[in-house]
Amino acid sequence: MSKENKFETNAIHVGNRPDPSTGAISPPIHLTSTYVQDGIGQNKGFDYSRGTNPTRERLEKNIAALEGGYDAIAFSSGMAATTALLQHLKQGDHIIISRNVYGGTYRMTTQVLSNHGLKFDFVDTTDTQNIKDAIKPETKWVFIETPTNPMLEVTDIAAVSSICKEGNIKFAVDNTFMSPFGQRPIEQGADCVMHSSTKFIGGHSDVLGGVLVAKDKELADKLHFIQKSGGAIPSPFDAWLLLRSVKTLGMRVQKASDNAMVIAKYFEANSKIAKTIYPGLESHPQNSISKKQQITPHGDIIFGSMVSIVFHSKSEMEDFIKKINLFSLAESLGGVESLMSVPYFMTHADVPEDVKAEMDLVPELLRLAVGVEHIDDLIADIENALS
Ligand SMILES: Cc1ncc(COP(=O)(O)O)c(C=O)c1O
Repeated sequence: MSKENKFETNAIHVGNRPDPSTGAISPPIHLTSTYVQDGIGQNKGFDYSRGTNPTRERLEKNIAALEGGYDAIAFSSGMAATTALLQHLKQGDHIIISRNVYGGTYRMTTQVLSNHGLKFDFVDTTDTQNIKDAIKPETKWVFIETPTNPMLEVTDIAAVSSICKEGNIKFAVDNTFMSPFGQRPIEQGADCVMHSSTKFIGGHSDVLGGVLVAKDKELADKLHFIQKSGGAIPSPFDAWLLLRSVKTLGMRVQKASDNAMVIAKYFEANSKIAKTIYPGLESHPQNSISKKQQITPHGDIIFGSMVSIVFHSKSEMEDFIKKINLFSLAESLGGVESLMSVPYFMTHADVPEDVKAEMDLVPELLRLAVGVEHIDDLIADIENALS
């Protein structure tokens, strides 16, 4: 089915065929830890739910189809997925990571995995020469986030892919900010895609999850092995919630991105805002790269629903946060409701001050995760909060 049908059809039908035993249109949630075996070594493809579970498998098939990968491997959170990817490496292996990566990824790599012998270098991957310069004989993976959180820096996926291919290095992309509707890195040469499915895939701010999509069987097998061995799996109920939510992914992402474009233009034209960062604005330094790689399955350019703005002072930002109604002050993004956060003190609290300074992350930066409310209401609310 996945090959012939379009994205929205696959989002609804792959992994979601009606239950053959009852005809239930919504497939059952297999809340079971174990499976009765017909005899020693004879089972129906399932033996213990840490290893495999029918509901989780449905979700994995669905996301793999949307990203165009060989298989997907689901985890209990985005961080569990990133950790699992890095856990299949060995002591002494070197990994190059985007400097402006999600704060939790920075914390996991610098404060946990580096104690286990993995070596990391954080570079500004918007300039791909920095990747070339950082490559060592022991470099095994390049891990980028594009657009990044919260500076919305964009890295050229196809360019990084050719550098990696030349050096026989594997390449992973954290695609959380675009979702498979807005960007499909495997089509552009990545070996692995990572998602915090807590965000757009979940879409309703009610579930945590993570997923890795492997381009080929060899990597998929290694990652399933880590999934089974480490056990950081989503519960069947969480897997079902994600499978339910992904059905509307395309329309949610399109609507939120359309809203974000209007909002970004509004901020850019307003003198009360010192700086507006949005990949869809001509003023964004990587606007042309976004136009090249942030493409919907239907060939339209899409810029995503994240907008970062910098106020002239922290007190003006605090005033805005107090006055605004429809944007709630909360970490996370990708839900139907609009959220806002101050990354300097929230998501990126664990990133050292000098690293934040290097990436221009200032205390006056407010990150908006635009939802799918009516744009007139969002603009009226912003207008009122700025007045
Ligand atoms: C870009 C990005 N990657 C990874 C993560 C981690 O995901 P989770 O919170 O599901 O562990 C987040 C969370 O905000 C994120 O924004």
